[in-house]
Amino acid sequence: MIEIQSLSSDSTESIDLNRWNQMEIDGSIMTDNERSSEIKILFGSETGTAEEFAFDIENSLQTGGYRCSVSDMEDYNNADLASEGLVLIVTSTYGNGEAPYNAEELYMWLETEEVELNQTSFAVCALGDSGYPNFAQAGKDFDKFLGEKGAQRILPRTELDAVFDEPVEPFIEKLMEWLDENGKRYLL
Ligand SMILES: Cc1cc2nc3c(=O)[nH]c(=O)nc-3n(C[C@H](O)[C@H](O)[C@H](O)COP(=O)(O)O)c2cc1C
Repeated sequence: MIEIQSLSSDSTESIDLNRWNQMEIDGSIMTDNERSSEIKILFGSETGTAEEFAFDIENSLQTGGYRCSVSDMEDYNNADLASEGLVLIVTSTYGNGEAPYNAEELYMWLETEEVELNQTSFAVCALGDSGYPNFAQAGKDFDKFLGEKGAQRILPRTELDAVFDEPVEPFIEKLMEWLDENGKRYLL
């Protein structure tokens, strides 16, 4: 059975579409032209599943006519988050609910830096294994951190359980629906 859990009941997980075009940084409104018009897909992965899903997402979005690119989180310049238009986080979880190695730096940066991401929108695809006590915790944390920094959540977090081999396609479908309604700026 394929199951996608959307944990939208947390108070930190509301989706604020009204703020999509009202993005304020340091008191000044950022225009659409100042934000990146390319969707950035960031993956955190140790054994390659989240990485593969990130490239599946890129492939589908590009086929749908959208501008996007994939980056390994450890190769990404964290400060660029503030000027992204839309960031998709695809990450697994390791240890005792920790981020994978290549995601640690970005995770720590988001947890500790005082940054405002008011002009950035995001969605999280959190991979995990429900056999572990802290299921998909790294993705849950990224989702929380981004929300706390003022970024706009475009979709409730999607959690994919390795126990059921849950595929990434339903996440892609939800993304495409959102983009078809709201994502003209990312069209090629
Ligand atoms: C040593 C180890 C520890 C793990 N710890 C967790 C965990 O704490 N919580 C969780 O949800 N999944 C945990 N997982 C499962 C992985 O997150 C899951 O298999 C994921 O799909 C791997 O994705 P990746 O190939 O992109 O790294 C763990 C897996 C391994 C091998």
